[in-house]
Amino acid sequence: MLGLGNMNGAILAGMLAAGTDPAGVCATVHSEDSARAAEERHGIAVSCTERDPEANRNAASGADVVVLGVKPRYIRTLCREISTALAPETVVVSVAAGITTAAMEESLPEGQPVVRTMPNTPLTVGMGAVGLAGGRTATEEHLEMAERLFAGSGSVHRVAEDQIDAVAAVSGSGPAYAFLLAELMAAGGAELGLDEPLAKELARSTVAGAGRMLADPDVDPAVLRRAVTSPNGTTEAAVESFLDAGLARLIADGMRASAERGRQISQEN
Ligand SMILES: NC(=O)c1ccc[n+]([C@@H]2O[C@H](COP(=O)([O-])OP(=O)(O)OC[C@H]3O[C@@H](n4cnc5c(N)ncnc54)[C@H](OP(=O)(O)O)[C@@H]3O)[C@@H](O)[C@H]2O)c1
Repeated sequence: MLGLGNMNGAILAGMLAAGTDPAGVCATVHSEDSARAAEERHGIAVSCTERDPEANRNAASGADVVVLGVKPRYIRTLCREISTALAPETVVVSVAAGITTAAMEESLPEGQPVVRTMPNTPLTVGMGAVGLAGGRTATEEHLEMAERLFAGSGSVHRVAEDQIDAVAAVSGSGPAYAFLLAELMAAGGAELGLDEPLAKELARSTVAGAGRMLADPDVDPAVLRRAVTSPNGTTEAAVESFLDAGLARLIADGMRASAERGRQISQEN
């Protein structure tokens, strides 16, 4: 795991909770402070490029799979940095928004198998969602190796690479939408006169509980919503007010902005 921040940290937490042997994982970060924090959180050794400029190359050397978890703008530099440390069969998996497999392939040795993924942070709690697409030379075996990283901690879906920005707009960025909803519900509760801590707790546990109810793949959110929306009741008053104010359009526009930002990042890199 090269870069062990929010996203790779969530993937690693999911892998360890699903039974991956920590002794089989090497990780790097940039700063000493982050290395210490990540060691404490995950219970594995984490090296840092601040202290050891060879940390990424050492971690990548001999690895079956290398997961690139740095910010998009650093992905190609990191690919070049580790190029000579990789074995020809090492699968290079990226979690970065907007960085295409072609861009990574250009920065890696000819023929290096590459898999681009779009995971999300609920992998931490075993409820993640991941879209993935293979590069030019990625075989079925390479895709399966990438899928195994996530299999114990979320649902994994193969998509065409040109759909990854749309996956990011739904599930990659999606946890933030749910957190925003909890924030706004807490603020709305306080406006209605509840004490702020109580409003926060009610909103937090409601969004978390509703999320748990949605975890069953056979349930349809519209059916769950209708089940709690009595005709002419309080919930219907709120839902109709949201929809009349254009909530559906606002959400679609926000998701379009996410996908558009993914395309911009591709162009910038
Ligand atoms: N966050 C999400 O929900 C989410 C969802 C889908 C995809 N992603 C993708 O995940 C990637 C990382 O995002 P993030 O939110 O996890 O960012 P983050 O929390 O800032 O993590 C970035 C990590 O990279 C490390 N790093 C920086 N330079 C490095 C280097 N030269 N060598 C090794 N490690 C280095 C950082 O270490 P320091 O802490 O020491 O700087 C940190 O551990 C991005 O490409 C993003 O597009 C994120």
